[in-house]
Amino acid sequence: MPLLQLLNRFLVKHWRQSQLWRRLSLLVIFVFGVVLAIGPVFSQQTVTLKLLMTAPDAPPWNNVMVKQFEEKYPRIKLQIVEGPNATNLVEDLYTSAFLLGDSPYDLINMDVIWTPKFAAAGWLMDLTDEFSQAELAVFSSPDVEGGRYQDRLYRLPVRSDAGMLYYRKDLLEKAGYQPPQTFEELVKISRDIQQKGLARWGYLWQGRQYEGAAAMFVEVLQGFGGFWVNPETLEVGLDKPEAIQAIQFLLGTVSQGVSPPGVTTYMEEDTRRIFQSGEAVFLRSWPYVWPLANADNSPIKGKVGIMPLIPSQGHQGGSCLGGWGLGISKTTQHPKEALQAIRFVTSQAAQKNFILEAGYVPSRKELFADPQVLAKYRYYPELLKVVQKAVLRPSIAQYAQASDILQRYLSAALTNQQTPEAAMESCRE
Ligand code: GLC
Repeated sequence: MPLLQLLNRFLVKHWRQSQLWRRLSLLVIFVFGVVLAIGPVFSQQTVTLKLLMTAPDAPPWNNVMVKQFEEKYPRIKLQIVEGPNATNLVEDLYTSAFLLGDSPYDLINMDVIWTPKFAAAGWLMDLTDEFSQAELAVFSSPDVEGGRYQDRLYRLPVRSDAGMLYYRKDLLEKAGYQPPQTFEELVKISRDIQQKGLARWGYLWQGRQYEGAAAMFVEVLQGFGGFWVNPETLEVGLDKPEAIQAIQFLLGTVSQGVSPPGVTTYMEEDTRRIFQSGEAVFLRSWPYVWPLANADNSPIKGKVGIMPLIPSQGHQGGSCLGGWGLGISKTTQHPKEALQAIRFVTSQAAQKNFILEAGYVPSRKELFADPQVLAKYRYYPELLKVVQKAVLRPSIAQYAQASDILQRYLSAALTNQQTPEAAMESCRE
């Protein structure tokens, strides 16, 4: 006899026999009904994934990534928390959240320099087994390496970044110059254009005491043949003559009136605003500036050139590798959804729209040659080469402290509170 029939007989028999059984059966039927009715509601409950990022990153994330992701996964919401502008302040906020216990963030939007510290502290999920070699091979390798710590993977690169030199094509042409090849030429051209009354300032760079100054400084260091920390020997190179020359070059741009005195308080957005208002010939910044400088409302639209960073005469130039990627907090309640989000935002289609919107540097190699991307950013094939040989900031778990020391003493030297020699000597202590 089939099972259902048996059960039926049993219930009917006991139903008749006892009132208790009748009540029990009704209760079972009721509970069963409730589960059937609200079960699907529970399983379709919306999951919210929270992540914190720098303020300038939030609009392109909201306009592109969040919109596309929530269309594809209506059950998962991405909640962007807009943080301060400086990457190190965002890092401090993530750090305090982790130290306090349960991080309120599910996804961790990480600068390329944070992985060793966050991974060593045990705050991130190990993603090594989630992504195959083939899946990782589509990304530029320095971006993937930036997400590893002790051979384990903790972060997937959403976008890369590299310092670039912007110049005013129109002003150079007017004054009869080609783009400079060395720092010395840049200063000479700047002074001439300033003297001709064509621009107020020559060169803008980020000199405030913050992470952006450390990124800017590794480029100038490289341009003078120096280094910060040797990755093999861990030797610190900041008190070497090349580092002193690098600081003297920056000080010289201010003392010669090529850079504004306020440059020692500027972050990226301060320098972009001055450049975009048309007041300066050269700017060191990241590729996000390009679409903003060429926007319809920009006074310098169509007048801007971009090139890799240049060195001092006789040396090799180098861009600092930047970039952002996602990791997952170890304490998240939604690891499955967080992984889905990472797969989505690092996908070809999502990243392409993100880049078209914000001028960011792709982390996926194929996008540097994508026809639509190239139509908008024709310099991207060269940018791929720049990214692949970019200078790395030291990949050590104590990076935040090392950078903090550099920022402090670099700032002391740039604001003439200490001589370059004394300041750089202090960095070794
Ligand atoms: C950019 C870079 C990042 C760097 C920061 C410094 O956001 O992508 O790597 O640390 O600028 O301001």
